[in-house]
Amino acid sequence: MPLTALKNRTAWMLVTMILASSFVFFIGAAGASPKESPYTTSRYNAGTPNSSIVVNKDGSITAYGNGAIIYTLPKTSLAALGQALYATNCAACHGDKANGVPAHSSDPRYANVRAGNYPNLRGVGSAAVMFWITSGRMPAAAGTNVQAVRRPPRLTYTQALEVAAYIDSLTKTPGLPYVPNVNLKGGSLSTGASLYALNCAACHTITGDGDALASGTYAPSLRNVPANQVVEAIRTGPGNMPRFTGNLSDRQVRDIVKYVTGYIQHPQNPGGLGLGGLGPVAEGFVGLALGVGLLCLAAFWVGERQ
Ligand code: HEC
Ligand code: HEC
Repeated sequence: MPLTALKNRTAWMLVTMILASSFVFFIGAAGASPKESPYTTSRYNAGTPNSSIVVNKDGSITAYGNGAIIYTLPKTSLAALGQALYATNCAACHGDKANGVPAHSSDPRYANVRAGNYPNLRGVGSAAVMFWITSGRMPAAAGTNVQAVRRPPRLTYTQALEVAAYIDSLTKTPGLPYVPNVNLKGGSLSTGASLYALNCAACHTITGDGDALASGTYAPSLRNVPANQVVEAIRTGPGNMPRFTGNLSDRQVRDIVKYVTGYIQHPQNPGGLGLGGLGPVAEGFVGLALGVGLLCLAAFWVGERQ
């Protein structure tokens, strides 16, 4: 082959490669920006275009949201029942008035406790109260643990609503966000998968099994978390988890929840064996060991024996 022809060919290959890579980049960039119009951060964590707000005569708000997630305020009539539950289950740590225990408290009840360890609950929002109670984290077993852990809940769902209503009653306007209810119908698994990879996998790992973080804390496994608790976690940011508000719309949150509850909690393994989702290297190694092993056996079987 003459040298000029080779040169031409190299030049063409280069041009094609550059074109192809910019095309791939273009597709990648298009995939990264959601088609939805930008999410406008408002006082309410639902700013998607069709979000609706139910405003009462006195100006208070009972519910807000859209087809993807509706956030509802626990009924104010539940507060009286909640007050009694709060006094027996929560007051010892978070204080009689739910305003937390100030750092360096001189109250003898808190003598053995790290100062300032008990957060103020006023205005945290009913979604946060629901998350911490229904995931069994609260009432906490001990106030001195690095991180409260998921346990079978001590209070029922209704009792949790009652406590949330009581804590809401302590501030002039109830805290945000309200208790979410997600509608997974119409959610997109594939959008959820890429949003999950982008926003959550760094801490919870791509398989959702969770992983250790700094200073003895960890991002827990997502394999047994009900849908609404996933929304609550995303919107309130428990512990070391960031709080996602303006950067994820309610539809995007719905898609992530669909992915977590629909795929992470029920993984499909087209190859048959999931092998615990250990990753391509470990799975490839198993494939190699089994495959080459079988081939060796077959070879021995058909081969000549002496
Ligand atoms: C033994 C002490 C203790 C008891 C009892 C307790 N808590 Fe807590 N609570 C804590 C500690 C400590 C934290 C911080 C935990 C963490 O960050 O992991 C916390 C955190 C919370 C948070 C998260 C606040 C935020 O801003 O992130 C909520 C909500 C909460 N508690 C509600 C309750 C409710 C409601 C009850 C009663 C049903 C309760 N707790 C009972 C110790 C307690
Ligand atoms: C910076 C790390 C980090 C990122 C990013 C993160 N999380 Fe978390 N997540 C945590 C930590 C830490 C906790 C535990 C908080 C605690 O209990 O104090 C947690 C808790 C949770 C829980 C509660 C699990 C349980 O057992 O109750 C859910 C659900 C959750 N995260 C979902 C998500 C989703 C979905 C995303 C992405 C939108 C995400 N997280 C992003 C660190 C992270």
